[in-house]
Amino acid sequence: MTDQYAVIGNPVGHTKSPLIHGLFAGATKQDMTYTAIEGPLEPEGAFVETVRAFGAAGGKGMNVTAPFKLKAFALADARSERASLAGAANALKFEDGRIIAENFDGVGLLRDIEVNLSVPLEGKRVLMLGAGGAARGALLPFLAARPAELVIANRSLAKAHALIADGNASDSVRACAYGDLARMGRFDLVVNATSASLTGDLPPVPPNVFSPTGTAYELAYGKGLTPFLRLARNAGVRGIADGVGMLVEQAAEAFAWWRGVRPQTRAVIDRLVLPLN
Ligand code: ATR
Repeated sequence: MTDQYAVIGNPVGHTKSPLIHGLFAGATKQDMTYTAIEGPLEPEGAFVETVRAFGAAGGKGMNVTAPFKLKAFALADARSERASLAGAANALKFEDGRIIAENFDGVGLLRDIEVNLSVPLEGKRVLMLGAGGAARGALLPFLAARPAELVIANRSLAKAHALIADGNASDSVRACAYGDLARMGRFDLVVNATSASLTGDLPPVPPNVFSPTGTAYELAYGKGLTPFLRLARNAGVRGIADGVGMLVEQAAEAFAWWRGVRPQTRAVIDRLVLPLN
């Protein structure tokens, strides 16, 4: 039987995952299907049942998107370290009757920044805005890239401190409030890991955090020039990017985890990229 995969979310109509994985499967000659499933929001337990039914029917793996990443993490029988720190899963594998949870969002982000954008983090000053699920996913991969300094700014300072404590972060990591940023100098990389752009909002970040030779990265994708990216561009930053590369790279990580072969990503990113204006 052809191996079956799916992305589960709600809503799920906008998802690019079937297209991405279809292109990967074609390029690597894998015999597999990849569909989109609209997961039930209620009643309680219906999501878990849908996932288990997919596995019981021979499903091999799933990607998980909003609003189910926490539920997918909770239902798993085993979890990777990065999924555990994030408290969230974006990929599941069905193996010998067990469900294994992974989270490739952070590694996908790091790979897009370091490989596709050619911005190695080692020795750099990095500012991450936000301390929610997306920021949690990015923390361990970012630390592994050995930045000189990683500053995490969040409206709720307690949440940023909790993230650092949970991640056993080193001395090079610190939390701060947005109000502290104006006197912290310029950063080589500023990542917007808040959900502000989803509602067209701007985190209260002062423009002097940006370096003209640095990079501004927006985790959201397909939103054009978000208020954050516009601020960065107006501050003279040349290197601005949204999360489309991260989306494709996390998909490639999941694909490799499931299939044992890592697909090329460049052509797929080029196909999905939208102009930032
Ligand atoms: P996600 O999974 O997208 O990270 P989340 O876990 O709900 O979603 O976290 C949302 C993050 O965006 C939080 O860091 C939140 O800041 P607070 O913890 O202080 O609430 C941040 N956020 C959302 N809207 C924001 C805004 N308008 N300005 C600044 N930060 C914002």
